[in-house]
Amino acid sequence: MLSVKEIDVCYGKAQALFNVSIHVKKEEAVLLLGRNGVGKSTLLKSIIGFLPPVKGSIFFNGKQISGKKVYRIANGGIAYVPQEREIFPDLTVEDNLAVAEHKTQNGIWNIERIYQFFNPLAKMKKRLGGNLSGGEQQMLSIGRALMTNPKLLLLDEPTEGLAPLIVRMLEEQINKLKKSGIGILLAEQNLQSAFKIGDRAYLMEKGSICYEGSTEDLMKNKDILNRYLGIR
Ligand SMILES: Nc1ncnc2c1ncn2[C@@H]1O[C@H](COP(=O)(O)OP(=O)(O)O)[C@@H](O)[C@H]1O
Ligand SMILES: [Mg+2]
Repeated sequence: MLSVKEIDVCYGKAQALFNVSIHVKKEEAVLLLGRNGVGKSTLLKSIIGFLPPVKGSIFFNGKQISGKKVYRIANGGIAYVPQEREIFPDLTVEDNLAVAEHKTQNGIWNIERIYQFFNPLAKMKKRLGGNLSGGEQQMLSIGRALMTNPKLLLLDEPTEGLAPLIVRMLEEQINKLKKSGIGILLAEQNLQSAFKIGDRAYLMEKGSICYEGSTEDLMKNKDILNRYLGIR
């Protein structure tokens, strides 16, 4: 479904990604792991079109998307939930969801469905986005992404800084999305969380992919976990 081929990505003159190739198959959940600053967020931003690659190409369902505008990539069926959680603080929960709706993709998601899926949001429809807790904002941010009925969801550290109870709830819901057939590309530093969700994993180091394998194999590979993630 998604195929990133040998891309280089730069911030001005500073190169952040070096010859990165990854792929995500239909209905697959793929992990992007690595320490802080290795390029996980950069790769997601490049896929959604904020940082077009200076070399290489990105394909989605066989069509080249690299070089296209963000809204065109999003309209094609990719949704992006940034690490900073993208919500409008001055809009209500309901309006945050309503403005995210667009009719380019058919699918099951609408506001009522989001309230069923993220139940806590149903009790705060009129509350301003800025007055939600971190966990509620994350639900809203994912809810906004789902409103576009994506085929592929890019999630950037969705559980970062959240309380354990909310983290478990989000893990469960993300797994439900995966079972519903949405492809997932998940950048994570929280391995416990990631391993519950991912089928396959890529490990990054200094802007490059340094390991690729099934989550099952990676979990057993103490040497790699230690070398690239500092896990003993
Ligand atoms: N806006 C930016 N301008 C310049 N360099 C950046 C910017 N954002 C990130 N970088 C650099 O790109 C590299 C990768 O960062 P990032 O993709 O955010 O890593 P990660 O998400 O894995 O923590 C880092 O060296 C970081 O300093
Ligand atoms: Mg990041």
